[in-house]
Amino acid sequence: MCGIVGYIGEKNCVPILINGLKRLEYRGYDSAGIGLIENGNSSIIKNKGKVSVLEETVSTLNLHAGLGIGHTRWATHGIPNEINAHPHSNEKNTLFLIHNGIIENYQTIKKGLQNLGYNFKSDTDSEVLVHLIDSFLTKDYSLSKSVQLALNEVEGTYGIAVIYQNEPDKLVVARKGSPLVVGLGEHENFIASDVSAILAYTKQVVYLDDGELAVVSKDGFTVKTISDKEIEKEIHEISISLEEIDKGGYPHFMLKEIIEQTESVRNSMRGRLLVNEGTAKLGGLADVVDRLVNSKRILISACGTSWHAALVGEYMFEQFARIPTEVEYASEFRYRNPIIEKDDTVFLISQSGETADTRAALHEAKNRGALVLGICNVVGSTIARESMAGVYIHAGPEIGVASTKAFTSQLIVLALITLLVARKKSLSTSEGKKITDELQKLPDKISEILKLNDQIEQIANEFKDSKNFLYLGRGYNFPVALEGALKLKEISYIHAEGYPAAEMKHGPIALIDENMPVVFIAPKDSTYEKIVSNIEEVKARGGRIIAIADDADGEIDSLVDYVIKIPRTIEMLSPVLNSIPLQLLAYHIAVIKGLNVDQPRNLAKSVTVE
Ligand code: F6R
Repeated sequence: MCGIVGYIGEKNCVPILINGLKRLEYRGYDSAGIGLIENGNSSIIKNKGKVSVLEETVSTLNLHAGLGIGHTRWATHGIPNEINAHPHSNEKNTLFLIHNGIIENYQTIKKGLQNLGYNFKSDTDSEVLVHLIDSFLTKDYSLSKSVQLALNEVEGTYGIAVIYQNEPDKLVVARKGSPLVVGLGEHENFIASDVSAILAYTKQVVYLDDGELAVVSKDGFTVKTISDKEIEKEIHEISISLEEIDKGGYPHFMLKEIIEQTESVRNSMRGRLLVNEGTAKLGGLADVVDRLVNSKRILISACGTSWHAALVGEYMFEQFARIPTEVEYASEFRYRNPIIEKDDTVFLISQSGETADTRAALHEAKNRGALVLGICNVVGSTIARESMAGVYIHAGPEIGVASTKAFTSQLIVLALITLLVARKKSLSTSEGKKITDELQKLPDKISEILKLNDQIEQIANEFKDSKNFLYLGRGYNFPVALEGALKLKEISYIHAEGYPAAEMKHGPIALIDENMPVVFIAPKDSTYEKIVSNIEEVKARGGRIIAIADDADGEIDSLVDYVIKIPRTIEMLSPVLNSIPLQLLAYHIAVIKGLNVDQPRNLAKSVTVE
C-alpha cells in the first residue's frame, strides 16, 4: 500500500523524493505529497492524483532542501483529496509525518487529543500520529523519544517517517506491519517502503523489523526497539539493477512482465534442476527437507493470484508427493482458529512478501508449531525473513499491479518443491526425469506462445465491449480459469468469473446466451473429453467460445468460435503455459478500452493492510 521515501544529506532532496515516489507509485496512486525542511523553514506540497501532478506543482516552485519525506497514498480512512494526502503536519507546520498502515485506535486517541485542544484537518487515521508526537514534543521530549512514546499508545500497523524543524539533523522512522528500509550513502542516507525507490542512489540497505525505530542522520543511523533496546543491524547488498525496474521501452510494465516470462521462468529453475537424477535442489529448504518430506499434511496460504498458484500446488503435492494438501485464503485462515499440528508444513506464497493477511497466517502457523516455509519473490521481504526457511521464485521485480510473471514463477517453484519431495518419497527417477525434461522446455514454449500476441489482440478487439466473461477449466486448469478471470476483472473492469468447467451445469449455465463469452482452458489432458462436453453445452445455448488448446488438437476448431493454440506440456505444468494467453487477453482488452493497465483503479501492488 502507500509508498514512503525520505532523504537526509547534502543534496537537494526534491528530485530524489519525486523520483522515489514515481518508483513507488504502484503502491498507491490516489494522492501524493512531500514535506521539506531547510534552514529553519518547512514546506509541504500535496496533490490529489498521480505523482505526475505533484511533480508539475513542484516544478513551478523553486524548492531546495537537504531533509524531506514523500508519500504516495492508497486511501484507507478518508477519500483521496489534498487534505487527506500525506505528509500530515502539526499546527505550527514544524513537524511532518507520513504513514503507511492503519491506526486502529485512532478514534480514542483523536478524542483525547481534541480534549487537549488539538484541531484535526483531515479524515485520516494517520493524522492522530502527528499530533500525538507533537503532544510529547511540547513536553520537551526529543523527536525520537516523542515518536517512541506515541507509538507505545498506538494499536494497529504502521510504517512511518517523521521530520521536525527543531531537529533538522535527523529523520525518524519506525515500523510495525509495514515495510521500511534504510538506504546508506556517503554523507547522505535514505529511507523507503521498498528498495525500488532508492535503488538509483544506493544498493546498501538495512531492513527494519517490526517494533523497531531508526534515527537516521546524514552520516549514520541507530536502531532501537520501540521499548528502547539498542539493536545492531545487518547491512544487505541489493542485487537488483535499475534496468530491471524500468519499463525498458515497453508501453506498460504488465506487457514487459508478460514478455519477460521466457526468462523469469528460466531464472526460477536456474541451478535448481538435477536433470540426471530427475529431481530438484533447493538450497533454501536443505535444512528442513526431512521435516517437509515427513509432513502429515501441507497447508498453503496466500491471497489473490498467489492463492491461485497455491491451488495448482495442491494438485501437484497430492498427485506426486502424496501428502494431503489444503489451500486457504490467508485472510480466512487466521480467523477461523485453524487446526495446525506440529507435523504439518505451512507454505505462505507471496510475490511481495509483505501482504498483511499472509503475514498474519504465517504468525498463526508459527505459533502453533508447524514448519513454516515462504515462497516469495521480493528478496529480503518480511514474509521471506519471518519464515523458518523458504524458496525465492527469482522472477525479478514485478511492478505492474496485476501479477503475471510472479504467478508462472510461483508455479515453477511449486513444481520444484513437488519434485524434491516426491522423489524422496515414491516417485521414480524416470518419472522425475519426465518432469525435469518438460520444465527445461518451458521457456521455448513460452516464446512460441508470445508469438500469438497479434492473434490474441484481435480476439480482444472482438470482445472488448462484453460486460461479463466466464472462464472454465478442470483439474490443474481450474485455478488457471480463476486467474484468467481475476486478470480481466482487475485491469479491464469487466465482470468475470472462473469456475471448474463441470460446475457450470450447477448454476452459471443460466447466464449463457449470445452475449456471454466463455473462455475454455482445454488442453488435451485427462479431462479433455469432459471439457469438450462442456463446450458443447455452452455452444448449444448460443454462448461465444474462446478456447486455449494444444497446437496438435484438430478437433476443437470446429467446436469453438476462437481458438488459441499453444504448445503442449505435461498436465502438471500446463497452467504455466495456459495462463499466458489469458494474461495477454486481459492486457489487450484493457489497452483497447484505454485503461491504465499498470495502475488499475482502487488497487495497489502490495496489500499491507488487513
Ligand atoms: C492480482 C494480484 C493480487 C496479489 C495479492 C497477493 O494480480 O496481484 O491478487 O496476488 O494481493 O499479493 P502477494 O503475492 O504480494 O502476497
